[in-house]
Amino acid sequence: MLEIRGLHAWYGDSHVLHGLAMDIPRGRVVSLLGRNGAGKSATMRTIMGLLGKATGEINCNGVNLLKLRPDQIARKGIALCPEDRGIFPSLTVTENLFLPPVVAAGGMDIASIYALFPNIRERGASRGTQLSGGEQQMLAIARILRTGARLLLLDEPTEGLAPVIVQQIARVIREIKELGYTVLLVEQKAHFVESLADIHYLIENGTIVDRLESAEFAASRDRVERLLAV
Ligand SMILES: Nc1ncnc2c1ncn2[C@@H]1O[C@H](COP(=O)(O)OP(=O)(O)OP(=O)(O)O)[C@@H](O)[C@H]1O
Ligand SMILES: [Mg+2]
Repeated sequence: MLEIRGLHAWYGDSHVLHGLAMDIPRGRVVSLLGRNGAGKSATMRTIMGLLGKATGEINCNGVNLLKLRPDQIARKGIALCPEDRGIFPSLTVTENLFLPPVVAAGGMDIASIYALFPNIRERGASRGTQLSGGEQQMLAIARILRTGARLLLLDEPTEGLAPVIVQQIARVIREIKELGYTVLLVEQKAHFVESLADIHYLIENGTIVDRLESAEFAASRDRVERLLAV
């Protein structure tokens, strides 16, 4: 689905991605693990065309996404669920859900969204501010499914959430994968991605330092934990 090669990106004058390379195959869950400031969000924002300057290649079906505008990238069926979740606090759950435009063919229908997120139906009339952190995260994922995206970029979806909610997010990611979606899952928690991702990439100082198949992950846990330790 995406092949990233020699990716460099800048926040203003600050060079934050240094020749990053990774593959995100269609239908797979790919994790991107790294500590604070490693460049995880910068990678996602660069895929979406949101960083001011970037060079290299992000190949999507023969097109280099670096040559496209953010709206054109969204039309390719790629959507970002940002760290701050990006929902509108003063709008109701239902308003939040129906606000995003369907930009790519095959946006998930409402019945399927409610099946995947039963809470969202129950909380339909509540405002964004009245939702728990877990409900906000569910709504944020539901919103990007509405747009028709087939590649979901999830930026630390479990951050700050209680273990029982983290389990619900894991269930949603498994079900999304079963439905054929592709997921790039940015995390700092190795135990969360261990049973979810097919491929794991480790990022440090804006570059990929290791790639692990899911079968190799358990044996490499010490190394992964050292990389993530602050
Ligand atoms: N708006 C910004 N302007 C300038 N530099 C930034 C900006 N946002 C992040 N950076 C810097 O870019 C580098 C990569 O940051 P990035 O946000 O991608 O890290 P991250 O891996 O997502 O970390 P975290 O786990 O804290 O979310 C860091 O050195 C960070 O300080
Ligand atoms: Mg981040």
